[in-house]
Amino acid sequence: MTRRLTGFQPTGRLHLGNLLGAMLPLVDDQASTESIAMIADLHAMTMDHDPSQVRSATLEVAAVLLAAGVDPDRTPIIANSQVPEHTELHYLLECVAGFGEAARMIQFKEKSAGDRPVRLSLLTYPVLMAADILVHDAGQVPVGDDQNQHLELARALATRFNGRYGETFTVPDGVRPESAARIMDLADPTRKMSKSTPSAAGRIGLLDPPELIRKTISRAVTDTVGVVRDDPQNQPGVSNLLGILRACTGKEPGDFTSYGALKAEVTDAVEALLAPIRTRYAELADDPAYIRQILAEGKARVRPRAQATVRRTRAAIGLLD
Ligand code: TRP
Repeated sequence: MTRRLTGFQPTGRLHLGNLLGAMLPLVDDQASTESIAMIADLHAMTMDHDPSQVRSATLEVAAVLLAAGVDPDRTPIIANSQVPEHTELHYLLECVAGFGEAARMIQFKEKSAGDRPVRLSLLTYPVLMAADILVHDAGQVPVGDDQNQHLELARALATRFNGRYGETFTVPDGVRPESAARIMDLADPTRKMSKSTPSAAGRIGLLDPPELIRKTISRAVTDTVGVVRDDPQNQPGVSNLLGILRACTGKEPGDFTSYGALKAEVTDAVEALLAPIRTRYAELADDPAYIRQILAEGKARVRPRAQATVRRTRAAIGLLD
């Protein structure tokens, strides 16, 4: 059976797009697919960061995954920093990665533009991401458009290593989240809802209180057409609201006579989805020792295979055992 690895970077607050696009698909497929849920806390080191914030964000992501229904007995939840084979494989993969190909990554170019110094780890970030994937022999990796190029690099490194040093890695495939789960920014519906947009007005945080969610949705940008139609080209805001409704309820939205009526129904649907997660999260957040134990168990579960991958890689590339 193909193993799937879903990664979450613990920077910023998780939002509805993360839940619908990555977390719920993971939960829904748990019975049929072997998955690992990985929190990329090492990747959070690539930009200027506040250590205590990264630590609490890591625990928050783990708690939200549990609250959303990830069953840790089926799906190990790990932090990449806690499984040392990730960093060991990272170095070995750097030895088949080119400086030029890393420097060409769009995300690196965007984040390194300007005069501010950037961390060397920002350049090698996609090589670490490749290690995250390859160390677990993951055959499937759900990625949004923004991570496509990084996944292509992981495929290229695996293929190159296998060609040069012998069959060592599974070459991973990207899996696209369903288009219904492409949740756009509520303040600017032409861009994806993202943790990194400066304004919070476009985001619905998974742990936002109900009043804030109601306010955010009521202020969502629409248009002056005045008719509720699913027409992403001409009515991106309205279409996004319909998409959110569809994704939250799993049903085709009915007809609406006004934008206000649509927004009211979207608010109810989002609240119905988030309320139980919020409640369960509040219980879990009270017990950080339990979250840490879940991460420790996840690590223990995945480690033997990660160690086997590293052993194989070391032998292939010419290191002593
Ligand atoms: N770079 C990914 C992001 O920003 C997070 C990530 C790190 C990841 N390692 C991964 C995703 C491995 C998938 C597989 O979203």
